Amino acid sequence: MKVLSKDIYANSGFVYKFTKGVESDPFHIYIDKPAMHKALGRVRGKKVLCVGSGNGDECAYIKSVGAVSVTGIDLSKEMVKQARSRHPGINFYVMSADNMKFPPKSFDILYSDLVLHYIDDLGKVFRDAFRVLKPGGRFIFSTTHPIYDMLERRHSNRGKHAEGLFGYIRDDKRYRIIGDYFTRRVIGGKWFNKYDVRFYYKPISGIIMPALRAGFLLNDIIEPKALASLKKVNPGRYKKLSRVPQALILNLQRP
Ligand SMILES: C[S@@+](CC[C@H](N)C(=O)[O-])C[C@H]1O[C@@H](n2cnc3c(N)ncnc32)[C@H](O)[C@@H]1O
Repeated sequence: MKVLSKDIYANSGFVYKFTKGVESDPFHIYIDKPAMHKALGRVRGKKVLCVGSGNGDECAYIKSVGAVSVTGIDLSKEMVKQARSRHPGINFYVMSADNMKFPPKSFDILYSDLVLHYIDDLGKVFRDAFRVLKPGGRFIFSTTHPIYDMLERRHSNRGKHAEGLFGYIRDDKRYRIIGDYFTRRVIGGKWFNKYDVRFYYKPISGIIMPALRAGFLLNDIIEPKALASLKKVNPGRYKKLSRVPQALILNLQRP
């Protein structure tokens, strides 16, 4: 399996910055996490596995809303180390999403927040997820939205701001096409002005079809908009994220 995140999430400097970033990033606070919590629904009495649990905060949230047991797995030793020290009451294991070492039918819910775009072959992940879920169990995950990721990144003159473009522009009396929806590729950017973070771009069919082929039913597709409260905090970002989808959430079910 090709995993682009392996080196970056093994870097303790990055992991530290990442955790701080998640705590203050409007994308996490005003779009992804509230929508994921809503999609998660009632967890009282359920056994939940967090896939790509990061610093463990999402596992702690799921426990706080009534799950009977919560387990976290992450490919990065550094992330698992941090999760264990932040949440000593939860079990975290170093394990990959496409090679989960749990017996069949172990969990009621699998929850994976912004992880699957780091993995090229989603077929193996979905087959494994299907195996460890109980019949009737749900797999809820968020990923970066292909519509957002297909945008072509441009930098301002000062190189500070990235711009996204898709469509046609007229240039010297000719139309040029900008961006690419169809081609699977590696994309990414610099995070915290320092770290190169890369992930896999796939069109929407490249995300949904491997799940259906693994046997899942598709309960829901969620394309969350920003919470209204972002408007006060960051009006520009609010305007953009009210029009351009940055997260794609699927709610899958094992029949
Ligand atoms: C963007 S972070 C999200 C962390 C956490 N879910 C959250 O929302 O705060 C992505 C996480 O996925 C983990 N990851 C990437 N590839 C993985 C894989 N194949 N299996 C398990 N975890 C993986 C990374 O180590 C990292 O902790």
